Amino acid sequence: MYNVYGVIGYPVKHSLSPIIHNLGFKLLGLKAVYGTFEVLPEDLEKAVMGVKALGIKGLSVTVPHKERIINYLDVIDDISSEIGAVNTVVMENRKLLGFNTDWIGVLKAFETNGVSLKNKRVVVVGAGGAAKSVIYAMKKAETKEVIVYNRTYQKAIELAERFSVIAKPWEELEKAEGEVIIQTTSVGLNSKVSVVGPEVLARFKVAMDLVYSPLKTTFLSYAEEVGCQTIDGLLMLFYQGIEQLKIWSQKTLPSESLDLIKKELYAEIKRRQGLDDKD
Ligand code: ATR
Repeated sequence: MYNVYGVIGYPVKHSLSPIIHNLGFKLLGLKAVYGTFEVLPEDLEKAVMGVKALGIKGLSVTVPHKERIINYLDVIDDISSEIGAVNTVVMENRKLLGFNTDWIGVLKAFETNGVSLKNKRVVVVGAGGAAKSVIYAMKKAETKEVIVYNRTYQKAIELAERFSVIAKPWEELEKAEGEVIIQTTSVGLNSKVSVVGPEVLARFKVAMDLVYSPLKTTFLSYAEEVGCQTIDGLLMLFYQGIEQLKIWSQKTLPSESLDLIKKELYAEIKRRQGLDDKD
């Protein structure tokens, strides 16, 4: 019998998570399959009940369900409660348990790029769902200061209070400075715009964009032009997925297997983006 896993989100058709998990299951020698479940926001509760009734073993949770799904799970761990978002669900003894691996994905992306965050001044652009895991990760990494800029100032203030960081209004983003800048808004997704220009990025050493379609966003191109070290969002997707595999299987993949999955993930996005370019 094959165990069934999947990602729920809306939209989710183009998710790259099946690449990570189906290959991961194969390399772990597990009889499991991973699919995509496109779930409308108004159907979320019914979908979660369905997961339980059908005995689906685990879920990845993506936009826009990461926050609201908490209401329909049996238990969530302390970290996802602190972050206020769940991206991983496990079915255990007919109970649905919620976890968050996004923050680990962020930290691993920095770690594999050899970037230490300790005592650094970090600017976070955006205050949506994704920003929460990023800010939590930055606190865990013992950064010196985290400053959040958001178009809707009130949301930056709410996150600043929740995580004891600093909120600044969007108009002041032009004056932002620090060592690390992390772009967490949806700006730049399948478009050629950037929330900040090269003159701002020139004041930073490292720039990360959570958007990975295109892989080299305009934000990252500007950052590269002005000499920043750049980190793309696909690396975070990869590592949050690897952590999910660990939670579901209670096993750790050897580094050769991780390299194989990473290679396949980057090859797939390049294939897709090559095709998109021709559209
Ligand atoms: P996610 O869970 O992916 O973070 P979200 O919760 O909808 O998605 O958050 C989207 C983020 O992108 C928010 O910070 C949003 O700013 P607002 O809070 O002001 O809506 C930001 N964002 C989206 N479009 C934007 C734009 N055109 N300019 C600036 N920020 C934008």
